[in-house]
Amino acid sequence: MACGIIGVTARKSHGASSRIAEIVKKGLEKLEYRGYDSVGVAAIYDNKIVVRKGKGKISEVNRRVKLDKVLGWTVVGHTRWATHGAPSDVNAHPHIDCNGRIAVVHNGIIQNYVELKKELIAKGHRFRSETDTEVLAHLIEEYLKEGNEVFQAFKRALRRVKGSYAFGVIVVDEPDKIFFARRDSPLVIGVGEGMNFIASDIPAFLEHTRNVIIVYDGEVGFITSDSIYLEDESGVPIDVKARIRKIDWTPDMAKKEGYPHFMIKEIHEQPRALRDTFRGLDESVEKASELILEARRVYFVAAGTSYHACLVGDYLLNVLAGIPSLSMISSEYKKYRKSIGEGDVVIAVSQSGETIDTLMAIRVFKENGARVVSISNVVDSAIPRESHYTIYTRAGPEIGVAATKTFTTQLLVLSWLSLAVAEKMGKLGKGEAEKLRRELERTPSLVSDIIARYEGVTKKLGEELVNSSNAFYLGRGIGLPIAMEGALKLKEIAYIHAEAYPAGESKHGPIALVEPGFPVIFLVFEDEWKRHMLGNIEEMKARGAYAIGVIPEESDFIEERLDKAIVIPKLEPIVGTIVYSVPLQLIAYYAAVAKGYDPDKPRNLAKTVTVE
Ligand code: G6P
Repeated sequence: MACGIIGVTARKSHGASSRIAEIVKKGLEKLEYRGYDSVGVAAIYDNKIVVRKGKGKISEVNRRVKLDKVLGWTVVGHTRWATHGAPSDVNAHPHIDCNGRIAVVHNGIIQNYVELKKELIAKGHRFRSETDTEVLAHLIEEYLKEGNEVFQAFKRALRRVKGSYAFGVIVVDEPDKIFFARRDSPLVIGVGEGMNFIASDIPAFLEHTRNVIIVYDGEVGFITSDSIYLEDESGVPIDVKARIRKIDWTPDMAKKEGYPHFMIKEIHEQPRALRDTFRGLDESVEKASELILEARRVYFVAAGTSYHACLVGDYLLNVLAGIPSLSMISSEYKKYRKSIGEGDVVIAVSQSGETIDTLMAIRVFKENGARVVSISNVVDSAIPRESHYTIYTRAGPEIGVAATKTFTTQLLVLSWLSLAVAEKMGKLGKGEAEKLRRELERTPSLVSDIIARYEGVTKKLGEELVNSSNAFYLGRGIGLPIAMEGALKLKEIAYIHAEAYPAGESKHGPIALVEPGFPVIFLVFEDEWKRHMLGNIEEMKARGAYAIGVIPEESDFIEERLDKAIVIPKLEPIVGTIVYSVPLQLIAYYAAVAKGYDPDKPRNLAKTVTVE
């Protein structure tokens, strides 16, 4: 899955030598969403490398080994999500060579590590861990022995490695440098004052600089406290100044601002995130809709929460524009390997822009001749870079592993896009499309109202769900993907088995599970399915279900059949998707908190999955 890496190198005038380790530790906390089963740092001090690391969350490991007290002005750090080798003290990064003169942090997978390890052991290298990463330290050691300069040795080692990586490497021989390379795993450089950074993601150094260089695939280089060297795959130096961009995220956007968890902060931020996403949306949607109009067929591809957003986009293109689009889960793209190509448009949705399955899917479809439009929250991330066109959500950094504000902003973009397409195809009159756009513009205030009105109720509901080990989420039409997202949230952070079903299909199997007290959450939209949903509520009630409904106002005949109701203003379904999502996020959040879990860091999950 994913890991987070960081490296900081600073001028000695930057204060005490332990200050850099403190900056690294804080940076790692910002990257913990990428993985959190073990953590470690390595620093160069007094012509030696010191490594401190261990299994556990950053705070636990720090208590044991004092990561933030390591001395040195050149420090790398890593927060891990295990792929090769179980989470353990020895498998935690950084990894060192035989003599402890080289330390490596890595996000990705070295696919050919078994062969490399055999070769290196035959040459007398001693391995300490079961990780794939450790081979890089020994490879560099080997090439240094042959008399290469450090950068040369690093590049030769990279040439031997197959797989994906973002590497940060320090070597005692050149104590002021951090060497780095990227292939298929994210890596950014932070350009500071007498202090430079590398990291898997921008929030890691946002407190220190907003000047950023995105490292592209195949690029390799090194930073010192005052310089940055970068070259492309063929060894041609890159003009780094021209690549610096200033990003408009403020450090506060990556902090909890008094909320107990990032997830709840991010739920509350949705009105702002939606408002920001409107910025420039008309222009970006205009271009994307032209591509869709020219398309032979339209497909959506994504993973996780982003896949649920795709289902909404797909639904809207079908019902509003009459375009028979299809959605696929990105790891299943191979089904369409031969059928999607020339003339087709593939819409890839990925908040991080780095999900490897989605990236692999678009690469194949692009090679077949399809055009790729992406929707992402991270500027210049891998998926946007490999797309023909990108629309950005402007939710700001999302730290909680469970997607919230990035989901509702994706819904906004997809709704806006579908309206533009439907209008251009003449399937929606100008007035009709305009009316729906005005309705969508109300989402920031509608979401604010729902949070203000229902936070207490959803908290109680979340607390009640703690006693259940199962729940159903039922919806119809456009409500179905929202039910799916609600169930995913409850599963992933509160560890309650939740299943979403088309309400009409629930009687073909799932209803057999319902016994007295079984919670069923019904999503009733103000649409043609409202009356049918009542039938489904009756069926479930008759089996003793505990019926919770998110329903439109003036639906007393439904409300009176429910055990608990969250009453939402009457909304156009296209607006309802965004608004209905919010109480479901809150229910899952409060269920997780009531069970004593950390909703920001659910077990076994990582925010960005960069391993297939
Ligand atoms: C992981 C995360 C999910 C996310 C999915 C897709 O599984 O835990 O929250 O929805 O990846 O991520 P993306 O960045 O492509 O939207």
